[in-house]
Amino acid sequence: MKIEMESHNLAETDALARAFSKIIKPSMIILLNGDLGSGKTTFVKSLVKYLGSDDVVTSPTFTLLNTYNGKFPIYHFDMYRLSSMEEALAVGFEEYFDKDRLDGVCLVEWAENVEGLITQVDFVINIEKINERTRKIIVIEGNKK
Ligand SMILES: Nc1ncnc2c1ncn2[C@@H]1O[C@H](COP(=O)(O)OP(=O)(O)OP(=O)(O)O)[C@@H](O)[C@H]1O
Ligand SMILES: [Mg+2]
Repeated sequence: MKIEMESHNLAETDALARAFSKIIKPSMIILLNGDLGSGKTTFVKSLVKYLGSDDVVTSPTFTLLNTYNGKFPIYHFDMYRLSSMEEALAVGFEEYFDKDRLDGVCLVEWAENVEGLITQVDFVINIEKINERTRKIIVIEGNKK
């Protein structure tokens, strides 16, 4: 499955996240790809809201992982400051990416920095900045096992 759409403002991105939230189930692993400032965290903010959480979503750039309480736990990673799978293993992240043990959903920014860590992916969301407010958002179904 591949869905491609253009968002022209924050409200449209929010609406796409709302639609997407309806197919999310616990144990799903979702990667968000795109350049700095493309809108990954913005998309996560909407998703977390529509997954039933009132928690404040902040970028886990320094904490690496924020956990929110929604219908089920939401694990929000930002791997920007990590540079290898070994570093991610050193902070104990591998346990989250085992779908058989995962009790919530993983939303991962900058997963490309930890190549090899995440082998089971349900969806990849690519966000491309077209101009100040316009984004191309592509949702691709991944290699879930
Ligand atoms: N249509 C849109 N959809 C999403 N974000 C938009 C849109 N138009 C403007 N923006 C703005 O783009 C910025 C995206 O920032 P955000 O922190 O979400 O990016 P990011 O991809 O998480 O960056 P980083 O790689 O630094 O984590 C926000 O300031 C947001 O308000
Ligand atoms: Mg971000």
